[in-house]
Amino acid sequence: MEYRRLGRSDLTVSEICLGSWLTYGSAVDADKGRACVQRALDLGINFFDTANVYGGGGAERFLGEALSGVDRSSYLLATKAFFPMSPTDKGLSAAQVAKQCAGSLQRLRTDYVDLYQCHRYDRDTPLEETMGALTELVRQGKVRYLGFSEWRPDQIRAALALPDVERFVSSQPEYSILYRKPEPQVFPLCAEEGIGNIVWSPLAQGALTGKYRPGAPPPPGSRGDQESGARMMGRWRHDEVLEAVDRLRPVASDLGLSMAQLALAWVLRRAEVTSAIVGASRPEQLDDNAGASGVSLAADVVAAIDAAVADVLE
Ligand SMILES: NC(=O)c1ccc[n+]([C@@H]2O[C@H](COP(=O)([O-])OP(=O)(O)OC[C@H]3O[C@@H](n4cnc5c(N)ncnc54)[C@H](OP(=O)(O)O)[C@@H]3O)[C@@H](O)[C@H]2O)c1
Repeated sequence: MEYRRLGRSDLTVSEICLGSWLTYGSAVDADKGRACVQRALDLGINFFDTANVYGGGGAERFLGEALSGVDRSSYLLATKAFFPMSPTDKGLSAAQVAKQCAGSLQRLRTDYVDLYQCHRYDRDTPLEETMGALTELVRQGKVRYLGFSEWRPDQIRAALALPDVERFVSSQPEYSILYRKPEPQVFPLCAEEGIGNIVWSPLAQGALTGKYRPGAPPPPGSRGDQESGARMMGRWRHDEVLEAVDRLRPVASDLGLSMAQLALAWVLRRAEVTSAIVGASRPEQLDDNAGASGVSLAADVVAAIDAAVADVLE
């Protein structure tokens, strides 16, 4: 496993991060989840991403338990707040930032998280209030660094321009061979400002692994075979997308890579990307995914990937 520095922080994170959306504390049973966390640690993955809202707190509770015997200084924990935990507990007001962070720390069984992220921008709270509350968490030692997920460039700039508040070091956008929206604006802004990108759904929720075939039902037990998972990944299950993914097969096999490794090496080719956050329902998926760390792709390979998927890019 290779490691990269997250923006202008002193966090050195593995190129592969293990996420927990739609998996731990929800669709994946606890024994399998624990096996995934253990395999991640064995593979040198030192970075875990979660959120208060994943599984209604279940993902944080699961990670708190699964990591409870592990030296806290040997891994890095990232969590998030914004989405509703109840009809009144939502958003990023000062009161909510304090309350949601306290809840996350309790569920995660830790005194601090390494990265606390705004899951989205909160239009109902003045930015000064949110940034002030986040800064307070850093000064109290409950949070080491701050990040955001899916903020617009003007929102990012406005936060960076505020006086006397902590600076963001991390951005969490969706990014994959099939979804490239951060490239024109968010990546250059982050590079200029010392902000690393930890990217979500780099496998397009499994579609880029090649296991979903055009015209065929999803493999039994896969995310696409589960009701809520199928809803979440619907946009990647159209035949024309899956046909484009099929065109990546010879590119991967010529390099001796699995499809998942090709997709992860593709996001990690960018210097603006610090880590690829993968989900895993089985430990073997992590063996496969970890194999992407340290792989570099030549320019002609990147061009072949572009040609294969050009018709279906969002
Ligand atoms: N900030 C945000 O708004 C946001 C949004 C979404 C996600 N995230 C974060 O990003 C993380 C990753 O998102 P994601 O789970 O959508 O990522 P992903 O890595 O694109 O997809 C993960 C899923 O693909 C399948 N898979 C993974 N590796 C595989 C392999 N080698 N071979 C075959 N199948 C494989 C597994 O599903 P099955 O085995 O069940 O098919 C796994 O759960 C989340 O856990 C979360 O931490 C953040």
